[in-house]
Amino acid sequence: MSQDKFRLAGVMGWPVMHSRSPRLHNKWLQIHGLAGAYVPLAIAPDRVEAALRALPALNFSGCNVTIPHKEEVARIADWIDPAAKAIGAANCVAVQTDGSLSAFNHDHIGFIEALREGAPGWRAGQGPAVILGAGGAARAIVYALREAGVSDIRVVNRTLERAETLIEDFGNNVSAHAWEQRADVLTGAALLVNTTSNGMVGQPPLDLSLDALPRGAVVNDIVYTPLETPLLVAARARGNVGVDGLGMLLHQARPAFHEWFGIWPELTPEIRAMMEAD
Ligand code: ATR
Repeated sequence: MSQDKFRLAGVMGWPVMHSRSPRLHNKWLQIHGLAGAYVPLAIAPDRVEAALRALPALNFSGCNVTIPHKEEVARIADWIDPAAKAIGAANCVAVQTDGSLSAFNHDHIGFIEALREGAPGWRAGQGPAVILGAGGAARAIVYALREAGVSDIRVVNRTLERAETLIEDFGNNVSAHAWEQRADVLTGAALLVNTTSNGMVGQPPLDLSLDALPRGAVVNDIVYTPLETPLLVAARARGNVGVDGLGMLLHQARPAFHEWFGIWPELTPEIRAMMEAD
């Protein structure tokens, strides 16, 4: 549709200025010699549909979508990929040549790629996975782990009903557990993932005893401010392999860049260092 060589994409959120995605995508545009810009798009919830529908006229290739718009975008798009449909949320929109909007969820890809990179020894068949939290991120991660072949996924949430809704949507291999059970369900686990905001800057640390967690288990905290959360510090101190949250952010961005601009960007050590320093 666009005759212009200037490529445009962005991230829609409310608020959005904290997003680290502009830094990453603008660097990739530069590395690949593409003229363009990736901009923060502060869009209030009641303007999401109007903003999305304006993308083709503005010659945007598409955009990322972040909190609180991920569920809404999955409803609005003209086409939705099977993962986004199952998860019930989209984090990427691509403008097609006919001006229609396709929605994708790349969070599950980001999670599993980051896990495999950070814990190369982890195998889906190794044992149960414990997920703390039952929000949008947890749904993407449950989807990823189920696709990877994990046969026992234990979802623990402060609000039990939310975990129960999640297991209704994801079925057989997923179970819901009360927050009070969070230490006990670690027994025999091969993977622990924190998707709650506990441990984030300005939030209380996660209150969890790791005593029941096998030392061979991988501990993945998707919080990335700070990179080394109290949970990761405690896990590494007792010998568990730890995976930080930056990898998920970096790895979900690659398929988005490819969707918009037709190029698979590299995640070089320089890119990671730049994002760590940011
Ligand atoms: P995201 O899209 O990042 O998953 P979310 O949908 O707001 O964000 O989900 C946040 C998760 O963190 C939820 O599971 C939430 O628990 P509730 O469903 O009970 O709200 C969890 N969470 C937030 N603060 C928490 C706290 N102080 N203790 C335990 N869990 C917490």
